[in-house]
Amino acid sequence: MKIACLGGGPAGLYFAISMKLRDRAHDITVFERNRPDDTFGWGVVFSEETFDNITANDPPSAEKIRAHFAYWDDIAVYYRGQRVVSGGHGFSGIARKKLLMLLQHRARELGVNLVFQTEIASAAALAKDYDLVVAADGLNSRTRNEFAEYFKPAIDLRKNKFVWLGTQQKFNDAFTFIFEETEHGWIWAHAYQFDADTATFIVECAEPTWQKFGFGAMSQDGSCRTCERIFADYLDGHSLISNASHIRGSAWLNFPRVLCERWSHQNIVLMGDAAATAHFSIGSGTKLAMESAVSMADYLHSEPNMQAAFAKYEDARRTEVLRLQSAARNSMEWFEDVERYLHLDPVQFNYSLLTRSQRISHENLRMRDKNWLEGAEAWFQRLAGAEDNAVRRPMFAPFRLRDLHLKNRVVVSPMAQYKAVDGSPTDWHLVHYAERAKGGAGLVCIEMTCVSPEGRITPGCTGMYTPEHETAWKRIVDFVHAETDAKICCQLGHSGAKGSTQLGWEEMDAPLQSGNWPVISASATAWSERNQTARAMTRTDMDRVREQFVAAAKMAERAGFDMLEIHCAHGYLLSSFITPLTNQRTDEYGGSLENRMRYPLEIFRAVRAVWPVEKPISMRISANDWVGPDGIEPHDAVAIARLLREAGVDICDVSAGQTSIKAHPVYGRMFQTPFSDRIRNETGMATMAVGNIFEPDHVNSILMAGRADLVCLARPHLADPYWTLHAAAKLGDHGETWPKPYYAGRDQLYRLAGGGEQVTGRV
Ligand SMILES: Cc1cc2nc3c(=O)[nH]c(=O)nc-3n(C[C@H](O)[C@H](O)[C@H](O)COP(=O)(O)OP(=O)(O)OC[C@H]3O[C@@H](n4cnc5c(N)ncnc54)[C@H](O)[C@@H]3O)c2cc1C
Ligand SMILES: Cc1cc2nc3c(=O)[nH]c(=O)nc-3n(C[C@H](O)[C@H](O)[C@H](O)COP(=O)(O)O)c2cc1C
Repeated sequence: MKIACLGGGPAGLYFAISMKLRDRAHDITVFERNRPDDTFGWGVVFSEETFDNITANDPPSAEKIRAHFAYWDDIAVYYRGQRVVSGGHGFSGIARKKLLMLLQHRARELGVNLVFQTEIASAAALAKDYDLVVAADGLNSRTRNEFAEYFKPAIDLRKNKFVWLGTQQKFNDAFTFIFEETEHGWIWAHAYQFDADTATFIVECAEPTWQKFGFGAMSQDGSCRTCERIFADYLDGHSLISNASHIRGSAWLNFPRVLCERWSHQNIVLMGDAAATAHFSIGSGTKLAMESAVSMADYLHSEPNMQAAFAKYEDARRTEVLRLQSAARNSMEWFEDVERYLHLDPVQFNYSLLTRSQRISHENLRMRDKNWLEGAEAWFQRLAGAEDNAVRRPMFAPFRLRDLHLKNRVVVSPMAQYKAVDGSPTDWHLVHYAERAKGGAGLVCIEMTCVSPEGRITPGCTGMYTPEHETAWKRIVDFVHAETDAKICCQLGHSGAKGSTQLGWEEMDAPLQSGNWPVISASATAWSERNQTARAMTRTDMDRVREQFVAAAKMAERAGFDMLEIHCAHGYLLSSFITPLTNQRTDEYGGSLENRMRYPLEIFRAVRAVWPVEKPISMRISANDWVGPDGIEPHDAVAIARLLREAGVDICDVSAGQTSIKAHPVYGRMFQTPFSDRIRNETGMATMAVGNIFEPDHVNSILMAGRADLVCLARPHLADPYWTLHAAAKLGDHGETWPKPYYAGRDQLYRLAGGGEQVTGRV
């Protein structure tokens, strides 16, 4: 095959090497516009996994690369006058220039033709003379633009500013992050040694800080001198150096996140940064470039023709690239939003930084550095007011809201059972809630319990509007209090336009087959074309419903509930006021967010006035309608939470969606937790996170990183009422309380889990 590689970076060179290794007969030319030893940038980072891959592909070049590696194990974070160090992270780095020289040497050795100082104006022209053109022309790929209509690139220019500098100051004991507060805002550095004398020193900040420093108008030299002053305490008199002389102007960049819809066109294929980029903060650009090169070379030798090889290459690499881009995006966004976390204690800030890409879990951090993690866990327990000094997972830390003391941070999320008879909970509910309270969760929240018969979602929903309901709930609450140390919360709600529908396991949200009752909502809207159109509430309706909430709260108090939650999420009545999708009112309850929040807050204030002062109230909201700017978006949820907090709501239960049939939720592990994180860290309000949280590891990392105060699990508690006790056994934690009659089962479980013969916990 006659092959042209457009670009002599890691992708172009390593592809040429990989092809020659598979068949020496290939005729390969690499065209590079720069000279052999010109290069932008400083050092690149490799993980062990990447290194194993390149070792398997070409042991001789891997060996040479390894010989020039700088290794480090620790990550050090300078923040608010403290240096926090954690270990076990295992990186290696090499100068980009050294890496390219080694790859050039290896390519020449294998017979690749290297042509330097040759700028290729058009890949189309090359494509006529070569069987295959590999466009490895980097971040600003000209080829990608030349064939934009085929490759369909999506380029997202990110908001932070960064500059890639170097220094001879030693950072050889740790990958170092330095956060500095200046008169113009926060600015930070990512620093790592990559050879005996030199370290990469990337400086990053938000655009307003960059503007205030005037970096845009500075020469590269001017930027270096200014950054030296900012980071003087860490540079020990060493200067900062730029080697981006090929870039005109200041050399500060905005990171472009690139992903192309297609990676090949006719006999041209994109590779490396030209096809897709991953943010520098997870150090994976060179990894992606080199691993893609190996993959393409493999498929060109295993597939019957070039087009089949391209298809396989795109298929295989796209999955890997998307996986890395997702981690890189999390990491990049963490740095973009870092000001949200700058109030955190150094311990928690460090944890948040280390887990920012969400690739490193709580237990994974323990494997990396047990001592550091245990120190962080002890800090968490101390802050939570734990009585003993035991090192325990964050999920087993106590929590206090007003006079409510929870033994741990796990919450059974409210879940409708659809088993009520005329609104009255039955033996089903007694057994169901009793089991969950025995199962170890600190707080059990009962299902949406409706304040009136017409406020029920389905005929099977529970209510709190007759003396019989109060008595039946009291029986359940009394059991929980008498037999367990869990607390129990009553969720009160009104179904609004989503009322008069079928049981959860029938056709959810669809109207009843018969016996429908009229429904009300903020405006005259219908949940779907099949549902009845609600009547827009009049002021008289609003007064009546408010009094129904007040009456229900009084009954909940008499029944003995420890906490109340007002349901303002998921498209039900109060949610229909909050979201503009269903609130089209023109009075003072519609329009601005303040107006749309007026009625839910009126309900809250009325309920708060009759609910005992020592008991907390939560409001559950949908923090994202998942319809884009027409509905509630996460930044609106922050504004909602501010209003809740000002009104005196104790905690915000941060759910999302179910407000419109047009929603396009983006599901994934812990997919709603970012909304809780944002609310908690931008408003200072306590939050509960919920949504596809199912592992103890998820719960611990959410809590330890300060992304929520409590964690709700719904479906996991349907499958396993004893989720918390089982998690404790699995983790070898002996501090949770088991029901006395179950001790023998507990002991066996701990023995089986390898937790030892003795159970010494509080009983
Ligand atoms: C601040 C920063 C820090 C980074 N840190 C790391 C890190 O720690 N670890 C890591 O793995 N990656 C890192 N990267 C990313 C890494 O540098 C790239 O992802 C990687 O180099 C991609 O390889 P490539 O071969 O696709 O592109 P490049 O390395 O950009 O190579 C493209 C080559 O093509 C040449 N070229 C372009 N157009 C033409 C043309 N028309 N004619 C001839 N030649 C042309 C260019 O001169 C260049 O040499 C970082 C990037 C930045 C910006
Ligand atoms: C069967 C079922 C019933 C639910 N009923 C309610 C409810 O009554 N009130 C409420 O706020 N959320 C309700 N939800 C939503 C859950 O509380 C939770 O927010 C959601 O299931 C996501 O959490 P998970 O991924 O842990 O299941 C219900 C969920 C399920 C699965």
